[in-house]
Amino acid sequence: MELKSLFKLSKWQEKAQVLSDRFNNLDFTTVCEPEELGYDPKIVKRSAPSGDRFLVNMLSDFNITNQDSILDIGCGKGSAIRKMLQFPFAKVDGMELSEHIAGIAVENFKKLEVTRTEILIADATKFQEYDEYNFIYLYDPFPSSVMDFVVESLISSLQRSPRELVVIYNNPVCHASLVNQERFFKAGIYPDNWGNTIAIYSNYQNSDSRLSSNKNMKRTTNEFSIGRVDINSEPKSA
Ligand SMILES: C[S@@+](CC[C@H](N)C(=O)[O-])C[C@H]1O[C@@H](n2cnc3c(N)ncnc32)[C@H](O)[C@@H]1O
Repeated sequence: MELKSLFKLSKWQEKAQVLSDRFNNLDFTTVCEPEELGYDPKIVKRSAPSGDRFLVNMLSDFNITNQDSILDIGCGKGSAIRKMLQFPFAKVDGMELSEHIAGIAVENFKKLEVTRTEILIADATKFQEYDEYNFIYLYDPFPSSVMDFVVESLISSLQRSPRELVVIYNNPVCHASLVNQERFFKAGIYPDNWGNTIAIYSNYQNSDSRLSSNKNMKRTTNEFSIGRVDINSEPKSA
């Protein structure tokens, strides 16, 4: 089957999954505003899902093995993690600021009898366990005032534990925070829903980087390119 037809098929599969989730009392997709959770929208973005066929399409272009581990920073209800679990990562973990939202993610995976993921309740700026991962995923969880601290923590992790660290940044509004210190370089982009992009960064460049073998990545330089600016100002998607 052609790639385009497969993509169309998975669009219908996604719609069927939303219905089946409702039937099974799973909640991966309803959106929660920061104010509802008691957070300041200036430093916490809304909890919204990004686990879709675009994410699967992008991850399929990496040669993921059981030597790889991924952390979703700001994992929400686990929508992206659910898709990451389709790949042979050793660990697919999520970290979430809101205890309430993290609890929903835990319940979702319990109902699905998934044991390969751990949901950690933590603030990304204070998290101490970044050394355990070689992939980081972010779907626009916070603004640059927070992202600057998180990038500092990632750089400290690389000093403690040298390795290639790939940062997958969906709707990369804080692109500058990542590249300004010249430790991370933007390698390319993949398309996402909403005319948005998923940007891929690494601390390794060119042939030193595993990204050199990604076939479908549109290679770019460090320029800033996104489709939309602030997830909090978008209409609710779920
Ligand atoms: C847009 S949602 C992304 C959900 C999930 N990653 C996905 O793609 O399906 C962003 C999440 O980041 C969380 N968040 C915001 N600030 C955070 C912080 N400092 N530490 C950890 N999580 C945070 C929010 O509570 C929200 O649930």
